[in-house]
Amino acid sequence: METNYIVNEDCLTFMRTLPDKCIDLILTDPPYPDYYAEKYNYNPEPILYLDKFKCKQFVFWTAKEDFLLDYSAIHIWDKKTGCGSEYERIFERNGDKNYKMFRYYFINSTVAAQMTKDVYYNHPSQKPFKLIENIILNNTKKGDVIFDPFMGTGTTCYVAQELGRKYIGCELDKDYFEIAEKRLGFVKQRLF
Ligand SMILES: C[S@@+](CC[C@H](N)C(=O)[O-])C[C@H]1O[C@@H](n2cnc3c(N)ncnc32)[C@H](O)[C@@H]1O
Repeated sequence: METNYIVNEDCLTFMRTLPDKCIDLILTDPPYPDYYAEKYNYNPEPILYLDKFKCKQFVFWTAKEDFLLDYSAIHIWDKKTGCGSEYERIFERNGDKNYKMFRYYFINSTVAAQMTKDVYYNHPSQKPFKLIENIILNNTKKGDVIFDPFMGTGTTCYVAQELGRKYIGCELDKDYFEIAEKRLGFVKQRLF
């Protein structure tokens, strides 16, 4: 299967063409229903479609709204801003267990990461390199294929590339897609 590419299209349409068994990990940060919902084109349908994939998944989600799918564990991303309420949840879906009815009580790990030393690409929801690195290193090996249907500026794909993993990414917005293209080296930066 072709890997190490990104597409500028609706991920629901794209996912319908993607063979489930070729993906080792889905790591994604979809639009939330409560925060930037309009700006990021929030729609539950492509998020619900993730259920068709049987691979391990990590899905970022707001702390304020119920997650849409069954899950195995909740991880907390502590943003280390100094304010107690500054965190987001990351739902792990590994197919082994279903803790949905116990939500809010299973907090399996904390991952603290700030944007320190990252290049900021002007996407309000760009995720820190170290945060994504932590999830990829703990859940994949070199050569595994990681898919991000809502890649924004391509952080997941970029970190995957840096760690010797393969990637596939999808982004609806043309401007964010072009940033991802540059980050991943598809477009040469102008020197003069
Ligand atoms: C929360 S942001 C992801 C930011 C990303 N983690 C980063 O580090 O840059 C969610 C992204 O999903 C994109 N998006 C929304 N609906 C989409 C869809 N149907 N298909 C593909 N991308 C979509 C938005 O344009 C937005 O950039």
